Amino acid sequence: MNHFEYRNGSLFAEDMRVTALAKEYGTPLYIYSAATIKRHFKAFDSAFDGLDHMTCYSVKANSNLSVLKMLAEQGAGMDIVSGGELYRALKVGVAPEKIVYSGVGKRSSEIRQALEAGILLFNVESVAELLKINEIAKEMDTIAKVSFRVNPDVDPQTHPYISTGMQKNKFGLDIQHSLEAYKMTADLDHVEAVGMDCHIGSQLTSIDPFLEALEKLLDFYKELKGLGIDIQYLDLGGGLGISYDEEEPPHPNEFGRALTYMLKDVPLKVILEPGRVIVGNAGIMVTEVLYTKSNPTKNFLIVDGAMNDLVRPSLYGSYHRIAEVEQNGRNTEEYDVVGPICESSDFLARERELPRVVDGERLVVYSAGAYGFTMSSNYNSRPRACELMVDGDTVSVARKRETYEDLIENEL
Ligand code: LLP
Repeated sequence: MNHFEYRNGSLFAEDMRVTALAKEYGTPLYIYSAATIKRHFKAFDSAFDGLDHMTCYSVKANSNLSVLKMLAEQGAGMDIVSGGELYRALKVGVAPEKIVYSGVGKRSSEIRQALEAGILLFNVESVAELLKINEIAKEMDTIAKVSFRVNPDVDPQTHPYISTGMQKNKFGLDIQHSLEAYKMTADLDHVEAVGMDCHIGSQLTSIDPFLEALEKLLDFYKELKGLGIDIQYLDLGGGLGISYDEEEPPHPNEFGRALTYMLKDVPLKVILEPGRVIVGNAGIMVTEVLYTKSNPTKNFLIVDGAMNDLVRPSLYGSYHRIAEVEQNGRNTEEYDVVGPICESSDFLARERELPRVVDGERLVVYSAGAYGFTMSSNYNSRPRACELMVDGDTVSVARKRETYEDLIENEL
């Protein structure tokens, strides 16, 4: 139950009727459920109660301040990948010592910003980055805490664009190079190696690849210990999948149990960086049918939500469940649901059976809470959608719809 359900044929977001929200705030419209976000965070975090751990929500999945604030209030730390995300996390009051900074390409200014803020640690992805952090920390007369992101060369069996832990991927350091990096750190005065990090990919629907990676990390941890290199943190990244369609990803409890078992005698503080599993099914996108048209082979539903609003179908061929906001009881028809953008890849669904709809009806696109709004753009000079947060029968505008003035604001 994700707090998006039909009551007498009308879709509700918690206690608010979606049609009423769409009329008031327009479409395309993102709607998030506060109760769902909180429930998902609690379910995830408590799955690791048997371990000394910290859940650092991965800001990139949904970085709206309302979402971040809610999670911060639940006790979440944050996993960031840019100065912009650091700015957001600090803005909502996340304690810097609960922030970890990942990513292959941190700029000097961002490293400085993070050191000034006093974040917990950097997940370092190359020797060049390590040297850069050392140099900046020296200038600032401080010592930066680092983990190395180990690329364990494990196939996460997910979409190639979101697999990150294989040798062909740009992420992290292979174990041999990680070992050299740990040794090198011992000789540098302004960096201290405090942890080990790994993130093998996103939308994983089995825990086996996580456990395979963990085994490799634990062997490596022992090797480091034997060399007198002692660390305190083990960051296992994010990546737990959600159900978009028929997938049956493991419940966080299953993941929690397996990790607790494997780590029972390991004196490390575990860091987790979930994104999608917290917010993915806590958000929907609502769109209105502008026109219908058919040719001898296809029926098209032309809707006002497009690839600039939700790029996942175009970029990864991702499936998002679509249904009517007001159930109409008509027979189904096969449709391509497409947006107004001038690209053939601008679709939300292809060859999808949907009850026959007419112009002006609204559709709900499910599982849009993660990598939905955060990946949106202004392509075709389309102002970005409005985001709402619903909490019971209370609605707040989490981000107002952009205007034409917003579009040109920074252009001289
Ligand atoms: N930690 C790191 C270092 C990451 O790179 C990511 C996601 C996460 C944590 C969170 O992963 P999650 O729990 O959300 O799977 N745009 C793609 C997903 C890209 C994921 C990038 N990294 C999509 O829409 O499927």
